[in-house]
Amino acid sequence: MEANATANPRPKKMHNNYEDEEERKHFQRIVAAFKYYKPHSLSRVKKSESYLLTLPTHHQKLLSKYRDHLQEVKRCIENNDHIIKLIIKDVAHIFENVHPAAAQADSTLNPRPVMVDQEKVQATIKQLVRDWSVEGTEERTACYQPIIEEILNQFPLDQCTPSNVYILVPGAGLGRLAFEIARRGYTCQGNEFSLFMLFASNFVLNKCREVNLYQVHPWVHQYMNNLKPEHQTQAVSFPDVSPSDLPGTAQFSMTAGDFLEVYTEDNHWDCVATCFFIDCANNVVQFIETIYKILKPGGVWINLGPLLYHFSDLPNEESIEPSYDAIREVILGFGFRLEKEETQVKTRYAQNINSMLQCEYNSVYFVCRKLHQHIDNVNHNHRNCLDSNGAQEQEN
Ligand SMILES: C[S@@+](CC[C@H](N)C(=O)[O-])C[C@H]1O[C@@H](n2cnc3c(N)ncnc32)[C@H](O)[C@@H]1O
Repeated sequence: MEANATANPRPKKMHNNYEDEEERKHFQRIVAAFKYYKPHSLSRVKKSESYLLTLPTHHQKLLSKYRDHLQEVKRCIENNDHIIKLIIKDVAHIFENVHPAAAQADSTLNPRPVMVDQEKVQATIKQLVRDWSVEGTEERTACYQPIIEEILNQFPLDQCTPSNVYILVPGAGLGRLAFEIARRGYTCQGNEFSLFMLFASNFVLNKCREVNLYQVHPWVHQYMNNLKPEHQTQAVSFPDVSPSDLPGTAQFSMTAGDFLEVYTEDNHWDCVATCFFIDCANNVVQFIETIYKILKPGGVWINLGPLLYHFSDLPNEESIEPSYDAIREVILGFGFRLEKEETQVKTRYAQNINSMLQCEYNSVYFVCRKLHQHIDNVNHNHRNCLDSNGAQEQEN
């Protein structure tokens, strides 16, 4: 399946298999998940409220501010729901070949919220902070800046026609990295298969015209590890930049669909940029193989992220979890030359900086090049990577 959201994007042309009954049902399930956000989230607050009411009166008295705080939490959920309504407002039209009626609520769908879907709605709200808020600046600097700088280094703006440089960002999330690349003049396409992300990125990229016009309360579902009540109810404005603020010549698009299915054309891209993506595969080797194939000879793959294998230990899912060392072997085995490599890159993902619980990744960052000549022998490839002093050896 494929979809485009373009530079001044009315996202266009999402043609694909949505005629397919299963896909249609999936689409409806995600719309339903967004719709169930409010009742589901409020029921969580009500649970605390109900318990509070059963406590001894003097306990309740001591907790009067906490009771007021729960009122505030409900107000925040209402506000989030307002944004969610905007996000799903026109999604029936997001894909070109879906009849709007097909996206109406299906009475055969089980109306009970699925827990895992609600977590994804909440994660989508947090992703707005990572990608499109001032509060996400530090996180983006750590994750996206090394990639952007390497692109500028590989394809200097004064030495090429940037619009002739084709850059793909698979697993684009809410699209900020791809947007930033396009903003610098390159032809950039983000690819994403999660409808949670696609609905939200469609809203930001195509509907948000004014800076910081909207607000969400991204941490309102985090009931634990709050130092102050306002850390749970904090409002975050978005978007921090106007997504329509792209040079007139910018070529920016988003495609919807599984990266492995959408990108089948060999030798097409000058650069593939992956951020927190390669661990989203059942078989990471298949991702690496696809990246290798679709890059032009001489093209570069820039990657940053951890190895939080997303399918690991999930029921009914297959997964392999090779270490970074093993992945390195695979990369070289396909015929990439490793040109830059860094470990222990401190990065965060949609992190609430006020929380008492912090999660930080020691990510890996690397830049590798598809050689003009494929060398089948893995041992040969070893000679083509950085030597122990970090110096590059010749291609042959
Ligand atoms: C951990 S998120 C990272 C998003 C973004 N790159 C960032 O750094 O914020 C990984 C994203 O890849 C998407 N994804 C995973 N597997 C995919 C696939 N096979 N094709 C397209 N997108 C995929 C997920 O839906 C998710 O949005």
